[in-house]
Amino acid sequence: MSERIDLAAFPDGFLWGTATSAYQIEGAVAEDGRTPSIWDTFSHTPGKTAGADDGDTACDHYHRTGEDIALMRRLGLNAYRLSVAWPRVVPGGTGPVNAEGLAFYDALVDDLLEAGITPSVTLYHWDLPQSLQDRGGWPERDTAHAFAAYADAVARRLGDRVKLWATLNEPSCSAWIGHYEGTMAPGWTDLTAAVRASCHLLLGHGLATEAVRAAVPDARIGIVNNLSTVRPATDRPEDAAAARRHDGHVNRWWLDPVHGRGFPADMTETYGVGLPLREGDVKTIAAPLDWLGLNYYFPAHVVDDPRGPAPYARTVRREGVPRTGMDWEIDAGGIETLLLRLTEEYGARTLYVTENGSAFPDTVRPDGTVHDPERQEYLEAHLAACASAARRGAPLAGYFAWSLLDNFEWAYGYGKRFGLVRVDHRTQARTVKGSGHRYAEIVRAHRERGRGAA
Ligand code: IFM
Repeated sequence: MSERIDLAAFPDGFLWGTATSAYQIEGAVAEDGRTPSIWDTFSHTPGKTAGADDGDTACDHYHRTGEDIALMRRLGLNAYRLSVAWPRVVPGGTGPVNAEGLAFYDALVDDLLEAGITPSVTLYHWDLPQSLQDRGGWPERDTAHAFAAYADAVARRLGDRVKLWATLNEPSCSAWIGHYEGTMAPGWTDLTAAVRASCHLLLGHGLATEAVRAAVPDARIGIVNNLSTVRPATDRPEDAAAARRHDGHVNRWWLDPVHGRGFPADMTETYGVGLPLREGDVKTIAAPLDWLGLNYYFPAHVVDDPRGPAPYARTVRREGVPRTGMDWEIDAGGIETLLLRLTEEYGARTLYVTENGSAFPDTVRPDGTVHDPERQEYLEAHLAACASAARRGAPLAGYFAWSLLDNFEWAYGYGKRFGLVRVDHRTQARTVKGSGHRYAEIVRAHRERGRGAA
């Protein structure tokens, strides 16, 4: 079924883009001075990724930027969210800046602008230099300062042309999945380390915000969080309390501190771990922001789990509801709820959907075309929900589909395909999928009709 999208709800100048991240697409992991990141180490550790996949070659984007920008042009996109690889730019984690690493992004930005595509740069999308991990990683305070120094170097080089900056992508994944659940790099299962990492990630965010602001006075700076709608799975009071804790874990812990509210006291109590904060940190973390980025994929339905790990709340798998190839429940209404929550509860003045998308096993037809009706339906339903949020007052200024290309989906390897463009990982051939063509049509309809529906 094709959803009707109220395109008139999106303002003129709306950014229509796709998002990617460095380690997931670039490849060229040992070229031009890049050193290993924690994801190189993790993906090369036996048993950590599906099929022992790694990002060594990924989509070979490092050598194919021209082709990939041409794809964006072909889709009619006017924006692109990319991340910079810290180990390319500051290979030692701290210390000298690598001219060749910066030169890659410098040329990429020029080429994007030349193609009429506004670049949005994310400074950290999970690829911490391994050398910093060897010195303790995010659980150590020094990592936050190292991040700010790296941010300063990137901002100074690209800031004359890049105005839209994000500090961190999904810090909750870095802290909770990387240091507590252990299924992402660096693969720890230590609550104390995870809580420390969460504080230092947000401190790094605040320090980097100051650094970028100083280097690029007209920068528009934000942070990108992956948020979920959270509901109790039953009407039991214990499950309502568990839902509140889960909301604290995945949403409030990341939103409250950057809005000057400090770390939520109920969650600090739930974790039972002292926070490694010093005087002034709370203020640094709350450095003024220009926008908030929402990455939305799925809702959470929660039950009390008193004997489980903190926060003693377990998500349950609901039967009989539509799901993506990641087994994630599909609930387009969630994106609307979250955009409105950011507007009403957190006073957001500008919002971007910085990621939204779905993995499905696509069908490649004998004529080579790629048929992906489920992804197309997911895209349409979520855009319709975004339009509804905008109608209801959410200051939504752009939408970045995840992702441009089928890429390295972290611990899931290459088996999960999120791209609007299919990548044959043997040949690196790119083919625009049905969903990519549909996205192009929606973008064109918004541009041409200005006000109307697609
Ligand atoms: O691929 C990831 C991305 O790196 C961060 N957000 C979620 C995507 C899909 O899992």
